Amino acid sequence: MEVLIRDNAETGCVLGARIIARVVRENPAAVLGLATGRTPLRLYQELIRLHRDEGLDFSRVTTFNLDEYVGLPATHPQSYRHFMQENLFRHLNLDPARTHVPDGTAADLPTECRAYEQKIAAAGGIDLQLLGLGRNGHIGFNEPTGSLRSRTWVKILSEQTLRDNSAVFGSVEAMPRHALTMGIGTILDARQILLLAFGPTKVPAVAQMIEGPLTAMCPGSALQLHPRAMVILEEESATGLRSTAHYRWIDRHKLAWQRYD
Ligand code: GLP
Repeated sequence: MEVLIRDNAETGCVLGARIIARVVRENPAAVLGLATGRTPLRLYQELIRLHRDEGLDFSRVTTFNLDEYVGLPATHPQSYRHFMQENLFRHLNLDPARTHVPDGTAADLPTECRAYEQKIAAAGGIDLQLLGLGRNGHIGFNEPTGSLRSRTWVKILSEQTLRDNSAVFGSVEAMPRHALTMGIGTILDARQILLLAFGPTKVPAVAQMIEGPLTAMCPGSALQLHPRAMVILEEESATGLRSTAHYRWIDRHKLAWQRYD
């Protein structure tokens, strides 16, 4: 795992956008795995700026989002499809037919999950998967104890996750209890992984993910198995780590082609 600690979330997000932009420049038909939540918002703004001001072309890019709430149609303001539409898709020159978010309204959810896996495979797999990190260490909606080899599936949201995500719904009671999410096995199949985690609430999960044992109790720790996983932190979210001097040393001694900023 490559740990990159930046001064603040702003510079972390700009770096993240550069990493994604390089993937798209090197392969204009890249397949991107995308995430929702507050964390990647600034990164998405930077991708929009790169598209607008520097001509970053998304016309041949395919996207697959990690997850979606069960029961929320694409038009629902709290659906992840709506979030992506508003915060990214409508600002880029993506082909709408190549943007994929699991369908939380599907009548047969297991079939929808299998179909999602098939679509990812048919697109040639994911080149880069963007991730945030739940306060309890979840990635996508893979909550603690979920299988490290899982494929896209239906998950029951933990009480902690419901509380953490309830602000936009107004209350926990108003929230769906279930979600469709890529499994941890699906995520690990991506050729490159980029996880962002900012702020004080993520300190314990970040420490467990990077320096704790590989365990289903911290789904993010599965990234320890991935040959090309990058984690972007800022000073605050890195405060629970023991080996920050080592991560900074590695960062300083990278070869030119390994650098993004
Ligand atoms: C949500 C999403 C995750 C996201 C996480 C963190 O539950 N399903 O994909 O990474 O919570 O959210 P935030 O970035 O808002 O802290």
